[in-house]
Amino acid sequence: MKKKLLSVVLATAMVATLLVGCGGKTEEAAAPAETKTEETKSEEAPAEKEETAAADTTTGGGKIGVAMPTKDLQRWNQDGSNMEAQLIEAGYEVDLQYASNDIPTQVSQIENMINSGCQLLVIASIDGDSLGTVLEQAKEKNIPVIAYDRLIMNSDAVTYYATFDNYMVGTKQGEYIKEQLDLDNAAGPFNIELVTGDPGDNNARFFFGGAMDVLQPYIDAGKLVVKSGQTDFETVATANWATETAQSRMDAIISANYADGTKLDAVLCSNDSTALGVTNSLEANYTGEWPIITGQDCDKANVKNMIAGKQSMSIFKDTRTLASKVVEMVDAIMKGGEAPVNDTETYDNGTGVIPSYLCEPVFADVNNYKELLIDSGYYTEADLQ
Ligand code: BGC
Repeated sequence: MKKKLLSVVLATAMVATLLVGCGGKTEEAAAPAETKTEETKSEEAPAEKEETAAADTTTGGGKIGVAMPTKDLQRWNQDGSNMEAQLIEAGYEVDLQYASNDIPTQVSQIENMINSGCQLLVIASIDGDSLGTVLEQAKEKNIPVIAYDRLIMNSDAVTYYATFDNYMVGTKQGEYIKEQLDLDNAAGPFNIELVTGDPGDNNARFFFGGAMDVLQPYIDAGKLVVKSGQTDFETVATANWATETAQSRMDAIISANYADGTKLDAVLCSNDSTALGVTNSLEANYTGEWPIITGQDCDKANVKNMIAGKQSMSIFKDTRTLASKVVEMVDAIMKGGEAPVNDTETYDNGTGVIPSYLCEPVFADVNNYKELLIDSGYYTEADLQ
């Protein structure tokens, strides 16, 4: 990561740590490029589904399109259903769609949303670079777009971005490895392998960049050794964040570098689906002690692995909190105002910086998961058995 960007993201991280989750004090963004007009409001199509709430003029009301990437990963189901419930509660009609991680499907879902009278779009993209053309139609109709969790690149139709602080996710994973291996004091050297996410997901570069800003100095000093020699982003990326892809890459790394009993001390995994692949691979191919394995999302399967001593930590991003923040942003925009943001420097999508709201992620491990996940009502005890 470039130095200048690093200092900006660090400053952002510091600001973000001063906030409590998403509930902190915010600054207001500059007015969105495109705001709702009465004309587009009157284009609203009649309600499509009986079960969704009708527009309520006392709360603003209107139809909101919510495009999610896939149902395959637990988190997106939670993101979608939390947002749908909270938007309905706030008086909006919701068109919620999942695209099976298929880009053309997501494009046509968004097209349908635009043509069926959605007045605002909330989009978690599959591939940040593939929505420029369809979003031109949104821009022509003055439909504001909130990029949800993943930034939509190279499109000036994006009005706002709402996410967790992605760079901070990476630094927390790196710090965890640093502390667990006691890198500043222990003699080492320690063996580590690196696994990150989809190259088409802008977040993956922030996760990996944040973690490597912590770990790289120890690699340079020889205290951490990447035996596979695989360290650059493109090589350690995992297409579609797929568990199977991470697993087969790890299989190959183990057989080439650790089959002779060489100890593997840590695996940086940018999220839980990749951590699951790594864990599966180690379970099948590696006989040594479990290395430190990081993750992100606190998916149920991974929390169970944490409890079983296989995965060491995960990053908890409370989707209820992000959903509430996005509902607040939607409501502000739909009422003709500006959405709350707390970052106007970090996320340039190629057309300029997108005003963003960054929520604060926290790390979860076997010592604090009960408080974070069960006491907060995110999961029940039974979910984790
Ligand atoms: C999200 C992660 C998620 C990953 C795979 C990223 O954009 O921020 O929470 O694990 O996508 O779906």
